[in-house]
Amino acid sequence: MKIFCPYKVKNIYEAVINMTHDLEKIKHDFLTKLHSLTKEADILNLKSEFTGKTGVVSELLKSLKDMNPEERKSFGPKANELKDFITEQCSLFLAKIEIEEINKKLALDRIDISMTENIQAKSIKSGGYHPRTIIQQEIEDIFLSMGFDVLDGPHIEDEFHNFEALNIPADHPARDMQDTFWFHDPQKTPKETKKYLLRTHTSNIQVRGMLSRKPPFRFIAPGVVFRSERTDASHEMVFTQLEGMMVGKDISVSNLIYFMKTILKEIFKRDVEVRLRPGFFPFVEPGFELDISCLICGGKGCSVCKQIGWVELLPCGMIHPNVLKAGGIDPEEYNGFAFGLGLDRLVMMRYGIDDIRHLQSGDLRFNSQFKLF
Ligand code: DAH
Repeated sequence: MKIFCPYKVKNIYEAVINMTHDLEKIKHDFLTKLHSLTKEADILNLKSEFTGKTGVVSELLKSLKDMNPEERKSFGPKANELKDFITEQCSLFLAKIEIEEINKKLALDRIDISMTENIQAKSIKSGGYHPRTIIQQEIEDIFLSMGFDVLDGPHIEDEFHNFEALNIPADHPARDMQDTFWFHDPQKTPKETKKYLLRTHTSNIQVRGMLSRKPPFRFIAPGVVFRSERTDASHEMVFTQLEGMMVGKDISVSNLIYFMKTILKEIFKRDVEVRLRPGFFPFVEPGFELDISCLICGGKGCSVCKQIGWVELLPCGMIHPNVLKAGGIDPEEYNGFAFGLGLDRLVMMRYGIDDIRHLQSGDLRFNSQFKLF
């Protein structure tokens, strides 16, 4: 009887016992090796070492054909079982390794969005609001709560809206008060051209506002204005104003003063010292200059208040009848007040900024000190 066995055996039982012992040994050998492996390629190699074409288990299975039926019956299923076991264990280990790899990757890429102190979050610089925007929005809210509309208007304006309709005809000396950037058509002489300019104040929107609505009404118009003038700590060529206008019946100077004081109190969140003095503006009669005590130096005198302790903040007055007429409103029936708040000066007072030029500088070190997005 020819039996498969490396050992010399005396009978069939002994042969089967030896063969079974071999299978146990192979299984043990396989498991020891498998548990020491951590790489996919090594596991695949191990699998072929045992169950590949010339693998140990495959050789055993090939030898089944040389056994007698009894041996084959006892040994065959066990050898097949071992082959299945090895295949299954290798698949399990491969899956385990794959999961471990995925977890490692996830751990590396992990971003904890709840951690604001996170390094990744710190390295992202977020932008901030310009202090002018912050104050402008605050003031718009105050006026909106008092029933005012918020209007906008063109930066490039014509002579009529910027000057004529505001009671400033061509030869009026008040034009010299506002150094103007003019546009000329190079094909024509200045006299032939309809003149355009960069608006010198937001009062141009008074005219546009009046022409587009019927009294009673009230609105504000914040915006940038342009003057061709020398710059210093309190003067810029490009700066912002906030125009305001209220038109109705029987509006008085005391309404105007009460209104201005209420607004300043809302803006500064406290009572600020104000003084009212006569001021000349062709579009109002009477006209006033409303000054506030300089909040940079506490009224002692500094470069912002030109050493006088007061800052011109709110020129205002009762709307001139000629202006109402130019806006299509009958001055016999209606009257009202207007004001032109110096927005940049207000920003400087609120934040203690001692030079208006910082506002226009675009310097991020300056800008990022205010409210972030
Ligand atoms: N437009 C004037 C200027 O830029 C400011 C001004 C003064 C506006 C009096 C007004 C006002 O509405 O009533 O100098």
